[in-house]
Amino acid sequence: MGELNFDDLIWIYDLFSIGQVAVEESEDEVYQALLKHILYGFNGKTGCLALIDKDKNDLYIKTGIGLPQEAIGSRIELGSGILGWVAENNISLLLNGDVSNDERFQNIQKMPGSKPNSAMCWPLSVKGEVIGVISVNQDANESEFTDSELEHGKMVIPVISLVANNLQLNRDRELQIKTLTDLNNQLNQTQQQLVQQEKLASIGQLAAGVAHEINNPIGFVLSNVTSLSEYAETFIQLIKEYEILVENLSCGNREKAREAMETIRDIKKTEDVAFMLDDIEELVKDSLDGMERVRSIVAGLKSFARVDDQSELKEADINECIKSTLKVVWNELKYKCEVKTNYGDLPIVECFPGSLNQVFMNLLVNASHAIEKKGVIEVETGCIDEDYIFIRITDDGSGIDPENISKLFNPFFTTKEVGKGTGLGLSISYGIIQKHNGELLVDSELGVGTTFTISIPVVHVENEDDNS
Ligand SMILES: Nc1ncnc2c1ncn2[C@@H]1O[C@H](COP(=O)(O)OP(=O)(O)OP(=O)(O)O)[C@@H](O)[C@H]1O
Ligand SMILES: [Mg+2]
Repeated sequence: MGELNFDDLIWIYDLFSIGQVAVEESEDEVYQALLKHILYGFNGKTGCLALIDKDKNDLYIKTGIGLPQEAIGSRIELGSGILGWVAENNISLLLNGDVSNDERFQNIQKMPGSKPNSAMCWPLSVKGEVIGVISVNQDANESEFTDSELEHGKMVIPVISLVANNLQLNRDRELQIKTLTDLNNQLNQTQQQLVQQEKLASIGQLAAGVAHEINNPIGFVLSNVTSLSEYAETFIQLIKEYEILVENLSCGNREKAREAMETIRDIKKTEDVAFMLDDIEELVKDSLDGMERVRSIVAGLKSFARVDDQSELKEADINECIKSTLKVVWNELKYKCEVKTNYGDLPIVECFPGSLNQVFMNLLVNASHAIEKKGVIEVETGCIDEDYIFIRITDDGSGIDPENISKLFNPFFTTKEVGKGTGLGLSISYGIIQKHNGELLVDSELGVGTTFTISIPVVHVENEDDNS
């Protein structure tokens, strides 16, 4: 390329165009196209483009024309050979003739099969920092490159530098996006695991409560049945003696009849049959009551444990949901909390009842934890309007420090000692209420108490997060 003419301008325009499509094309194709264009412009036969690898602090051949395939990707130390020298010194070079003895270039590696007679080599740099090198070689039988061609090259090389820099930035950005996406996926997985752990923890809490609740009636039913079986033995004995008595009376065997009467009298005296007759009635009644309690706890548990079909939208009576949850957490509440309920007239609500029960459970357990010795928990339900219902849980416990209010729904925010709270309850509850397109509000005064108010729509509306 001598003085600039129209063809040169078109050539420069084409060079810009290659750079502009750069981001959409594959990196290798863009570098190859750039090198090809440079070779074409300077009428070179072979050439290569090498980039600096910042991590390894060396050069690697990114693309080449007229180079053996194995040369692509090969690495060159900075300062070594012609390319290494240009990269290290950030100086363009015009080399004519044999340079194998040139002191500047140590370890010159001649490409097999090529005998360059003339070569130009420019550093690719952005803001003074070298990011690569490009070289153009001429065959021995062609005319040598000139200083003015080297200078022309210097004018267009910045375009290539910019494109190369853009491609690298683009690659870095894609790498960052990938790293962020991977991290995000990991985070999601961890969150899922934590949610699962929280569920397991509440199931554990629930199991302990239920075991305690069931154990008590089972204990006294067992003791009643033991007494009843002892009484039964006495009555079986009595019946047998009565049979003997009747038999002997009917066949006129008075002596034997008298003996049987004596035995009956003895049994009645020693076993206090009159007391037994009174007691049987009470034992049976108590046992039936106990069994009824067990039955209702199990029924409550069954409706609470809709946890397994949480993804299924159901029509539910929210008052019933609260009642079954209260049964399940009763063991946690009964020693220090008086629970007052004020159930409003609620329509059937389209919701995920298992998830809502988890929310009620967490709010009730939180309320009981906030009560140190004795206190009152009030549960109120009602309609806000024909589309929305509310559930309000109030306690007269410790209240919440105003500076903690904004952190309440953050995962892992807890003021409880290790082992008593993970700090996930409210963040999970918040997510569940959001899934219902509802609201979970808190109102608290330190030393006075706290109210959590849930409002949810009667008819469920799908939102974007429902599938996640
Ligand atoms: N009714 C309440 N009264 C006072 N403080 C409360 C009440 N409810 C929640 N808090 C405060 O909010 C914190 C977070 O509650 P959250 O339910 O998210 O977690 P947690 O109860 O500590 O642990 P987890 O529920 O995971 O077992 C609690 O540690 C407590 O400090
Ligand atoms: Mg909690």
